Amino acid sequence: MTRLARQVVVAAAAAALAAGCSRDATSTTPATSTPMPPIKTYLTQGPFDRTPDGQSVDLITLRNQAGVEVRIMTYGATILSLKTPDRAGALDDITLGFDTFAPYVDKSPYFGAVVGRYGNRIAKGKFVLDGQTYTLATNNNANHLHGGVKGFDKRVWKADTFQNVSGVGVKLTYTSADGEEGYPGTLTADVTYTLTDKNQLIVDYHATTDKATVLNLTQHTYFNLAGGKANDILGHELMLNADRYTPVDDTLIPTGELAPVAGTPFDFRTATAIGARIGQDNEQLKRGKGYDHNWVLTRQGDGLSLAARVLEPTTGRTLEVSTTEPGIQFYSGNFLDGTITGKGGRVYPQRSGFCLETQHFPDSPNHPTFPSTVLRPGQEFKSQTVFTFGVAK
Ligand code: BGC
Repeated sequence: MTRLARQVVVAAAAAALAAGCSRDATSTTPATSTPMPPIKTYLTQGPFDRTPDGQSVDLITLRNQAGVEVRIMTYGATILSLKTPDRAGALDDITLGFDTFAPYVDKSPYFGAVVGRYGNRIAKGKFVLDGQTYTLATNNNANHLHGGVKGFDKRVWKADTFQNVSGVGVKLTYTSADGEEGYPGTLTADVTYTLTDKNQLIVDYHATTDKATVLNLTQHTYFNLAGGKANDILGHELMLNADRYTPVDDTLIPTGELAPVAGTPFDFRTATAIGARIGQDNEQLKRGKGYDHNWVLTRQGDGLSLAARVLEPTTGRTLEVSTTEPGIQFYSGNFLDGTITGKGGRVYPQRSGFCLETQHFPDSPNHPTFPSTVLRPGQEFKSQTVFTFGVAK
């Protein structure tokens, strides 16, 4: 859709709203006085703000028939808000973040962003590929985290909105230059968000490169399914479909072991409150200041497979995560420390949000036994994660 057409959609939707009538997301027919049912599914795109170096950042809003609404900005392909109903049907935003653009530039711990080129850590920012050593930007003590100093979360992506049989969506594209943050190859990546009428947010990742490189894209939304109603996520009940996890050293780099979760506080095969064992005297929990680990998903074949389920008992909201990825980073928001003031003036204390980042394992380029994260010219990287929002009665 062209920029002009998008503006027409925005205008048409606004006119329809003002007239108390509705139109389809992609309809550009002028509003008439014919009575129509209220606006349901829609998408809009318009200017949001500008980066400090003057690039314009757009805001895209997707909404489905149930009223589930996702706001996304082109900076970092970031999910700004996600409104879903609770068991009484009340909509609330279940993500952490900011009301305005500016703090996303220098205060955000990756709230809602797509992280890349490599999500999570690469030890000492170094890896060898085809006999050549590459040195990446280091931004997490001596390690490389989430793509470096200026990762994909701090880049402006190009947006193309669409409506198709699955729902309404936006495809965001970013071309990462050869050598950016130390990575080899020009990498063209796109991330497509599709909001369906089944209350699913489908995230499709796709990338190609002109030189061999490494790649690990993920989505870094911090969820709190209680919306504005709870300060911490410790009462959320979590199920992770994983028999093993990857223990870490004291800089949060995997040791290489795939350790069984059985008999440890990392066993979430049966739904368990996040807070039930987080304070246990366990060396791995101490290293992460809580949960900050990659679980090895139990899966059959390469397709979409259930990774996680979460229930917030007071509101009844549920979240289910399915993915084609081999791992999931469950991060219990341990490094939030009450110094960030987010949406609506709310201060975010430790563990006020959690992330479920579907991914390849951290530091895979230095662990030949882990599933490979190498992408070569002529290959197409494809990955899908589906977030399903529901309620338990
Ligand atoms: C990492 C944490 C890190 C956080 C940054 C997570 O994906 O696993 O260690 O602190 O991102 O917000």
